[in-house]
Amino acid sequence: MSAELEFRPKMLGIVCNWCCYGGADLCGVSRFQYPPFIRLVRVMCSGRVDLAHILRAFANGMDAVFVGGCHINDCHYVTEGNYDAIAMVEVCRELLRRIGLRPERLRLEWVSAGEGIRFAGIMNEYAAQVQKLGPLGQAEGEGLDQAELRLRLEAATRLVPFARLALTGRLRPGVRTEEAYRRFFAGEEFRRLFDELVGDRLAVSRILLLLRERPRSTAELAARLGWSASEVSRHVKSSSKQGLVRFDVARGCYSLAGG
Ligand code: FES
Repeated sequence: MSAELEFRPKMLGIVCNWCCYGGADLCGVSRFQYPPFIRLVRVMCSGRVDLAHILRAFANGMDAVFVGGCHINDCHYVTEGNYDAIAMVEVCRELLRRIGLRPERLRLEWVSAGEGIRFAGIMNEYAAQVQKLGPLGQAEGEGLDQAELRLRLEAATRLVPFARLALTGRLRPGVRTEEAYRRFFAGEEFRRLFDELVGDRLAVSRILLLLRERPRSTAELAARLGWSASEVSRHVKSSSKQGLVRFDVARGCYSLAGG
């Protein structure tokens, strides 16, 4: 048996009560099979799922998270929570990408209560994809040890309040159609806004966590973060202006202000 087939990932499914959970229930009643290592948590609407839930799941050892809701225009609430779920998942996938994790580790799908076989099909296909990826932090392009993984997830988690605020404002399209959401999140404007509203803060958050361990020079920070020295300087200067970081002239390195 190959290593990738032996790997049993830990997968969490967060599914809405009214549709996707019904689909999962029908799947079970109909005896359609899907891997036992996917655990489901039921919420009232996919729009209830928050960035913090996803990041906490990864921090607690999940290798992948699945969010399941009602099909577009079938959400059982007037707020149409599944549009909120699209925006949250897209922002979270971008956050994962920025901290060096594969965005495929988070997936969103719509499943109705009558689609038991569709639920089983998605679960089987996603489980096979995650088995190929391997454990969190160890997929091709990730290459993170446990300490680095924890640090990066903590940096992303600290950003949740900012990302939530951005999600209620400019970080989503003004029109609620599936096509408008698809185009917005695939476009350059989304990446530009993400940088402006979240990305730079994420960079600062990663620097602050490294300085929490010990004082470091610009060169050390650049080597650890894989960034250029000028990029590190830009973020360190803005952190200095905000009173978060101070420069120790004698030692030639930065440390946390008040640390
Ligand atoms: Fe299912 Fe809102 S109730 S997505």
